Amino acid sequence: MIGNDGKNDRDERGAASFFSRSVSESLRLQAKRLVVVSNREPYINRKTRDGVRWDRPAGGVTAALDPLLQSINGTWVAWGSGDADRLAVDERDRVRVPPDQPSYTLRRIWLTPEEVEQYYHGYSNRFLWPLCHMTLDRVVFRRKYWEAYRSVNERFAQVILEELDGRPGLVWIQDYHLALCPLFLKQHRPDLTVALFWHIPWPAHDVFRICPQRKELLSALLACDQIGFHLDRYRSSFLECVEREMGPASEPGKNSVLFRDHETKILAVPVSIDFESFDRLARSPETEKRMDNLRKRLKIGPDSIVGLGVDRLDYTKGLLKRLWALEEFLARYPEYHGRLLFIQIAAPTRAESEPYRGYRDILQSTVQEINRRFARPDWRPIEYIEGQLSHASVVAYYRLARFCLVSSVYDGMNLVSKEYAASKVDETGVLLLSEMAGSLDELEGAIPINPYDVEGTAEAIRRAIEMPAEEQKARLARMRESVRKRDIYEWMETNLNSISG
Ligand code: G6P
Repeated sequence: MIGNDGKNDRDERGAASFFSRSVSESLRLQAKRLVVVSNREPYINRKTRDGVRWDRPAGGVTAALDPLLQSINGTWVAWGSGDADRLAVDERDRVRVPPDQPSYTLRRIWLTPEEVEQYYHGYSNRFLWPLCHMTLDRVVFRRKYWEAYRSVNERFAQVILEELDGRPGLVWIQDYHLALCPLFLKQHRPDLTVALFWHIPWPAHDVFRICPQRKELLSALLACDQIGFHLDRYRSSFLECVEREMGPASEPGKNSVLFRDHETKILAVPVSIDFESFDRLARSPETEKRMDNLRKRLKIGPDSIVGLGVDRLDYTKGLLKRLWALEEFLARYPEYHGRLLFIQIAAPTRAESEPYRGYRDILQSTVQEINRRFARPDWRPIEYIEGQLSHASVVAYYRLARFCLVSSVYDGMNLVSKEYAASKVDETGVLLLSEMAGSLDELEGAIPINPYDVEGTAEAIRRAIEMPAEEQKARLARMRESVRKRDIYEWMETNLNSISG
């Protein structure tokens, strides 16, 4: 989750520190020729009444990679999705970013409204997204989606090749929007090193076989020199799909696949956050001031108990189930009426498309219903804040929260859970974390919840609220240590070292 005021929140230290670690010379050289590619761009230009503003998107992928690009002056290729994006680029569709301290090149790719509808909303988000998140009743497939997906992937490849201009290079593609890109690249430039990181879960073969283009997708992905997943179980599911669809291609125990005489390394390494920057921000006087302001504005007194949810407005985040659990908790424990304030921060995402619009409407009306049901003249249980907040404001909410509730029905990783742990510098607070979120594997101090079990989650809320201070401390200390050890820099180094190794 990142803020929209990228100018103020950008983490200078994070950028500078990446290569201050002891990394090999070969890694430095690799990074020098790196081109990062993603569907979503790290900086967006939008029209305002007085001109053009810079925004940063919601979602962890772009936030994670920005410091790396800043530190190596590389190139990032992405879809120019802002309505003022064309105003900011030069004649070759490039713009130097970040806006306040330009340090790398963003090359924007233009998509027509039909391509946005069919490649982005269609194949990527109505088909691959729900398929990989196992929300199968939401899977929609149309052939025109696939055709657009193919041609946009091909366009991405052409632009990457243009950017490389015949030079040797390492192309690092991010996520499920661009699965065909590796093959198009290798067809033209077999000498390139191409890696892809798949940031969402990879489903078991029983689910993946729903995909009519499963063979095409797999063989395009296997054109990569390396594919990364967050968890070992996504990696195993991928290997299972390869074996079932393409025949035996990997030796048991080996971390690579041999397909058409080409070897692809298959890596499992969980993405993370910049622990130090959250920790530092959480300790800052600025955060204390923001917390005071929030206490006044939201009438948070010494007896209040703050619960928190921070999510993109996405059905995979299990927001409705979370509200039902809160309602159940309030019905079971009236002694907490007047004291519990649950703050839900919801960042709009893919808002032009169903089912996101419908999901948002139903969430809003459920919040209203619960508030109506339990409200007193001076209190209502849920504060719903829609919008994208800066890092600095989110950290103030994290610090105020006695518990943070992550109830994803399925989640490749979930960086909010890591951000919460990193921000709890006083080691008070409890993380309630879905068993379906990838981050639970690392965050052993969290209380696991099953988001489908409404009563169970309501009881977990009570446990969080009533947990003794020493237990909170012990659990947070473990989680903080684990995020500190495996931070975003560790993730990048492992990925890049493995590609070059
Ligand atoms: C997830 C995906 C990212 C994506 C982000 C935001 O984290 O893995 O690739 O960028 O959601 O979604 P959006 O559709 O707005 O890019």
